Amino acid sequence: MSCTPGQPCAEGVKRRRALAVLGVMGLIFIALSAASFLDSRGQVVPSNVRYADFGAVEGKRIFQAYNCMGCHTIVGNGAYFGPDLTKLYDKVGPAWLEAFLPSAGSWPAAGAVRLQLQNKAIATEAGVDTIEAYLDKYPGAGERIQRRGGHPTNMPNLPFTREEIGELIAFLKYTSAMNTEGWPPKPKVDGLRFPQATPLPVAAQATATAAVAPPGGAPAAARVPVSKVALGETLVKDNGCTACHAPTTQKLVGPGWGGLYGSTVQLADGSTATADDAFIEEKLVKPDAKVVAGYAAGLMPSFAHVLDADQIGAIVAYIRSLKESKP
Ligand code: HEC
Ligand code: HEC
Repeated sequence: MSCTPGQPCAEGVKRRRALAVLGVMGLIFIALSAASFLDSRGQVVPSNVRYADFGAVEGKRIFQAYNCMGCHTIVGNGAYFGPDLTKLYDKVGPAWLEAFLPSAGSWPAAGAVRLQLQNKAIATEAGVDTIEAYLDKYPGAGERIQRRGGHPTNMPNLPFTREEIGELIAFLKYTSAMNTEGWPPKPKVDGLRFPQATPLPVAAQATATAAVAPPGGAPAAARVPVSKVALGETLVKDNGCTACHAPTTQKLVGPGWGGLYGSTVQLADGSTATADDAFIEEKLVKPDAKVVAGYAAGLMPSFAHVLDADQIGAIVAYIRSLKESKP
């Protein structure tokens, strides 16, 4: 296009106007690009998130090292074998995760979560220190305990150390705090009738409520006169021992109990011990005093403030009754 001689010509003006608009657009583009790199948009960054003594940055490395994303989705990435983990920390809270991760092959029962709340650091992170208040604050934990507590899961037991568990929880705390604009979406299953959409039967309710009863008020099962061995068997279920220990020689997270009583145990410090009453009693109260060779220290929780002397006696009697047997 060019100007016709003799006609008024506005081409220069139009060109300058177009260049000015282009310039303004360019400035807006540069400004917005810069803004997208600013941390100050209120989004959390992993280096600022800590869970007790553990950092979310280390947790992200552990998450990658164990290839959790090979089975789980998180923040929109990963595989669909396991459930999405992005907002899990908000739903189930730290004490449930502390109870679940070391023995992921089994869903924690109420006793295992209550035990974690005895730990000051965990109770501080949770913001509550009784199991009742905890289940109110984190309804996802109560739902899991009721529906599946004490039952096996489809997730393998992974050989975590104490630090790795804390770091993973720090990482999940971070992803929970992220603003994901509503991701993952909540599935709408209300009104659907096919079996997969209806909740599982309340499997572990009896055990869950028995275990929630305060240590003073004996659970219903314990009021009926039962043999010491039978009481011990109930106690190891209610307190979550069976998530880590099998009654046979099978190794789960910890050694199997079959044939343990009276045997000679190799300890991590190179010495040996006889698995008698005193050994098992000490194991329950000071679990890291004598650590079994081939296992990590710090995984077995202390039951010092949970089990009284009679209950410990019943557990010892139960373990003593277990003969060596293959799973
Ligand atoms: C081999 C596959 C696999 C791997 C690897 C795996 N998981 Fe899982 N995980 C599962 C499955 C399957 C479930 C659900 C179990 C069920 O419903 O029985 C699950 C459940 C969970 C849950 C409970 C979720 C809920 O909503 O209750 C958490 C937490 C979890 N996994 C964390 C992890 C972390 C952290 C890692 C990596 C360190 C990991 N998982 C690695 C398969 C896996
Ligand atoms: C989170 C997993 C976990 C839970 C829950 C747990 N333990 Fe353990 N336990 C371990 C591990 C790991 C070891 C081996 C390392 C060690 O000695 O600390 C172990 C070791 C033991 C031993 C010594 C076994 C041997 O072969 O010498 C006994 C006995 C024992 N636990 C009893 C119990 C009882 C009873 C409970 C419940 C009141 C319980 N544990 C709960 C993980 C657990």
